[in-house]
Amino acid sequence: MIHSRIAGTGSHLPEKVLTNFDLEKMVDTSDEWIRTRTGIERRHVAADGETTVDLAEFAARRALDAAGLAPGDVDFIAFGTTTPDLVFPNCGVLLQARLGCRNVPAFSVETACAGFMYALSIADKYVRCGEAKRALVVGAETLSRITDWSDRSTAVLFADGAGAVVLEPGSEPGVLSTHLHADGHYKDLLYCGGGVSRGFGPKLTINMSGNEVFKVAVTKLGQAVDEALAANGLDRSALDWLVPHQANIRIIQATARKLDMPMERVVVTVQEHGNTSAASVPLALDVAVRDGRIKRGDLLLLEAFGGGFTWGSALVRY
Ligand code: ACO
Repeated sequence: MIHSRIAGTGSHLPEKVLTNFDLEKMVDTSDEWIRTRTGIERRHVAADGETTVDLAEFAARRALDAAGLAPGDVDFIAFGTTTPDLVFPNCGVLLQARLGCRNVPAFSVETACAGFMYALSIADKYVRCGEAKRALVVGAETLSRITDWSDRSTAVLFADGAGAVVLEPGSEPGVLSTHLHADGHYKDLLYCGGGVSRGFGPKLTINMSGNEVFKVAVTKLGQAVDEALAANGLDRSALDWLVPHQANIRIIQATARKLDMPMERVVVTVQEHGNTSAASVPLALDVAVRDGRIKRGDLLLLEAFGGGFTWGSALVRY
């Protein structure tokens, strides 16, 4: 039986850093409010002209290096993003052109913060059925482009970045399971107010009922982690690391409590990265792999929740 395993991880952040103190000068907020309500201290934002695929290319090349592969080895690209460079071709195809792996399938999924989880789940299936052997899975965003920088309720949250993993076949399970969910009834609680078909004006920016999103996120993520463990017949004590979506430290803490996991076993990057949507989980994963916390053989629970609502989990033996 073929399994899929993570052969390498990579990430990239734009150079420009925006601190909470910078934001104090832009909107009526304070470092203290942002830190206590969200855990965020600083975030990276793309420079003028720097695009989602620019960030993704760096992350992808790092993941390929870590896997000991060349860009031309890639035979499948699944790309999660809400902030594509173009309406079409999709970001997967634009990345494929940069990497030079011509003729292989390349696509993007737009499931907001759960974009990487959806992309990972699809790529895992292709590797396991034998149709892909070197699958590049990317989550990358330039959310700063759809952030209303005059709205303090959202401007302090969102940021830019990219993360990637390479999946390849293995004889032992790497990705043990993925579970995806969506509930479009919640669409009005978190959405971007413009698009091609409805028109871009007057505001192509993120609208969020933060408090209500918070409550649903805690509930759904709690159910998602139970579901992942139950599907694998595992107790929460089997987990080595929780690698959660980095939206808010309080949501992360609530999920860790549900799993009875001490915060030392939870990868937290929200203070440095803010909410980078589809990039958040692969970015956090790469940070913890590269600093040596996550080691080969560790059992990881990845989860994300975002606009739609969409959410999902992956249980992974790294
Ligand atoms: N600075 C200072 N005060 C602020 C700010 C700010 N940046 N933003 C809001 N406030 C004020 C509000 O106006 C409100 O004031 P009032 O009491 O006088 O009316 C007060 O702070 C409390 O506001 P709440 O919205 O109730 O604050 P809350 O504790 O819920 O924190 C937050 C807000 C951080 C947005 C939180 O609700 C949250 O993180 N929600 C979830 C976000 C999330 O997970 N999103 C999902 C993924 S995103 C995606 O898919 C793209």
